[in-house]
Amino acid sequence: MNMLIDPFNRHITYLRVSVTDHCNLRCLYCREEDHKIFTKRSEVLSFEEIERIVRIFSELGVKKVRLTGGEPLLRKGILYLTKLLGEIPGLQDIALSTNAHLLSSFAPALKKHGVNQVNVSLDSLDDRRFRDITRGGDLTTTVKGIDAAIESGMKPVKLNMVVMRGVNDDEIEAMVEFSIHRGIDIRFIETMPVGFAGIESVNHHYSEQEILDRIYKKYGDRLMNATRNKTDGPAKALFIRGTNTNLATISAVSNNFCNDCNRVRLTTKGDLILCLGQEDSVSLRDAVRSSMSDDEMKEIIINAINKKPEKHFFDSVIDNISHRQMVEIGG
Ligand code: GTP
Ligand code: 5AD
Ligand code: SF4
Repeated sequence: MNMLIDPFNRHITYLRVSVTDHCNLRCLYCREEDHKIFTKRSEVLSFEEIERIVRIFSELGVKKVRLTGGEPLLRKGILYLTKLLGEIPGLQDIALSTNAHLLSSFAPALKKHGVNQVNVSLDSLDDRRFRDITRGGDLTTTVKGIDAAIESGMKPVKLNMVVMRGVNDDEIEAMVEFSIHRGIDIRFIETMPVGFAGIESVNHHYSEQEILDRIYKKYGDRLMNATRNKTDGPAKALFIRGTNTNLATISAVSNNFCNDCNRVRLTTKGDLILCLGQEDSVSLRDAVRSSMSDDEMKEIIINAINKKPEKHFFDSVIDNISHRQMVEIGG
């Protein structure tokens, strides 16, 4: 039974867990060039603490967990956490959002531990541009990681392309072809004004409508609405007939989808963030480190969900936007 229903009748079935706020890249829209991490080791939730919180959430009705970062594969011993999570009975999906730089060596073991879905950031198929957007990333390594995930049997494998005017907007069709060739999914994401780098990135805003116009022009006669799973995120998906590829847009700015929101986020330090676009959060760290019972923890979580904001104001009230960096929230 789902006990996590917020005041707007939204059922919370999806928990995003950031396991580290470190990343080996510095994507333009995610963190500033000189962004530093000051998190102390003692502040970071241990794997056992994460497992306990996730198990409690699953007893309250959460069906899907996504491991995010920073770059989640940088967290030392991450396979031990996936093993612990894989043993929680109520979870249907364990997913990962990654830049894939370390994925080729991890993919088989992740799959073995029950990580069945992976989303990979890929914003360009041009080596130099890829390096510039990620400030130092290597395209060949990322593609190797994507291929290893496909090979391991994770499904779906989804690519995330943040479309930026004048930066990579000329690659939309090439990215679709890349995805069709590999039989994987792709989402085109509008820049979101979260954190300083995110707010800057909105100067390159390329709208969902412009993305769809381009896609309909090339694939229009082959596009059909794709079927959705209950735990699916904000993407609106289309299926390209004659391929194994689903294509979708994530358009938080031009098309607010908060009324379907089904998720909350746990940060590395144990803060439960109730909305990506707002500051509201409730710390679970002290609770999980105290002698509190699972039932008492459940009460804190249910009370937190009662405070989930109705929506973000990305399109209007810039002052209201969360100033946490995206790299600390995990997207
Ligand atoms: P699945 O649907 O489970 O595949 O995942 P997802 O698309 O939610 O996760 P992913 O980590 O791949 O994120 C893709 C993009 O969606 C990122 O830019 C996220 O910031 C954005 N996103 C995820 N959840 C939300 C949300 O609740 N609100 C908004 N506005 N954007 C979100
Ligand atoms: N706007 C949109 N998407 C973003 N991501 C990170 N920062 C932003 C932003 N400002 C996306 C990355 C990654 C996902 C987890 O979050 O593309 O794939
Ligand atoms: Fe790292 Fe992902 Fe942020 Fe890029 S978008 S800097 S890969 S956390």
